[in-house]
Amino acid sequence: MPHDFMPGLAGVPAATSSISDVDGQQGVLEYRGIRVEELCAQSSFLETSYLLLFGRLPAASQLEQWTSDISHHRRVKFRIVDLLKCLPEHGHPMDALQAAVAALGMFYPGRQVKDAETNYWSAVRLIAKLPTIVAAWARLRHGDDPIPPQDDLEFSENFLYMLTERRPHPLWKEIFDDCLILHAEHTMNASTFTGLVTASTLADPYTVVASSIGALKGPLHGGANEEVVQMLREIASPDHAQAYVEQQLAARRKLMGFGHRVYKVKDPRATVLQRLCERLFQECGPSPLYTIALEVERTAGESLNGKGIYPNVDFYSGIIYDKMGIDVNLFTPLFAMARVSGWLAHWLEQLQENKLFRPDQIYSGEHNRPYVPLAQR
Ligand code: ACO
Repeated sequence: MPHDFMPGLAGVPAATSSISDVDGQQGVLEYRGIRVEELCAQSSFLETSYLLLFGRLPAASQLEQWTSDISHHRRVKFRIVDLLKCLPEHGHPMDALQAAVAALGMFYPGRQVKDAETNYWSAVRLIAKLPTIVAAWARLRHGDDPIPPQDDLEFSENFLYMLTERRPHPLWKEIFDDCLILHAEHTMNASTFTGLVTASTLADPYTVVASSIGALKGPLHGGANEEVVQMLREIASPDHAQAYVEQQLAARRKLMGFGHRVYKVKDPRATVLQRLCERLFQECGPSPLYTIALEVERTAGESLNGKGIYPNVDFYSGIIYDKMGIDVNLFTPLFAMARVSGWLAHWLEQLQENKLFRPDQIYSGEHNRPYVPLAQR
């Protein structure tokens, strides 16, 4: 049956899902029907990941069990650390993360994807171990030993501790946890779709997540938050923002951290992140990058807002991480640490009624060409 070709599958539904919903005209994002603003104000990343995976907020005992299961699976095998040690230290952390996550699947039973208990423990391991891998790589590439996770620390606090061996400022762990909530899920985006295509072959969840990590890396998706901070550093002063924006737009270059396939107003996550920036900089001192970002948003808005192009989630997140002293090329791995919850929620949902993805194509090549022998070409 012929269909209209939609480049980028724009507007083509690839699944029915009850995990999250975006209203791109009103700027609303809900996880299982609850707005992200409310989750940031009241929930934690781990509670939100439970909500995404299992469809409801946990009762107190369920949350306790979930938190304890995650806490007890944070360690990674020494062979995973050895694998990271063998990778070139200048390599991108997303490549290291992808390699380590793919390798995790060789250590744990994950192939029985029809077994609910196996799937539960795969989800626990993946959510628990990604931060340990990211932090281990961040240290190993500088020649430092990884810092093992500490069971008595909460999820976000533990991650920041594993990066620096210092307990973070209480506001940092709270703000970092909110950042994870905001990045945990976002309907049918490129990395989720990639994971679902892999999952539709009934591949194990480690392979599913490794393929999603590959898709998230690109600068048009999760990689944009790195590029935003590099752009703001290049602009260097709020006084240069207008000239920079005008130059980029005149050259028909895209401004990183602006625009979205679905949102035609300001991304609600960008609004929350901006509030988090204000809190962080009030308590811990100003950020020059934030002042520049405000000016870029103002000047870019004059040309772009009319076209429905506003800051997206990547515009303000990197400024927060930068203030916490996190290296720019770790920003996308932080995104993956959060989004793994969404990827796994979609994986579990799809398994209920799995169908192998096998789209069609419109062939634009030739037919019946003769084979020309090598000597005659
Ligand atoms: N800066 C300037 N102009 C833009 C931008 C931008 N960031 N984004 C879109 N436009 C313009 C395009 O130039 C194009 O203009 P034209 O019609 O005059 O040619 C028009 O808006 C449509 O752009 P598309 O790229 O076709 O729109 P699409 O819906 O595919 O874009 C995307 C979505 C890829 C996110 C785009 O806005 C972009 O490249 N943004 C910059 C990268 C970025 O921030 N990515 C992170 C997205 S959020 C996430 O993945 C977590």
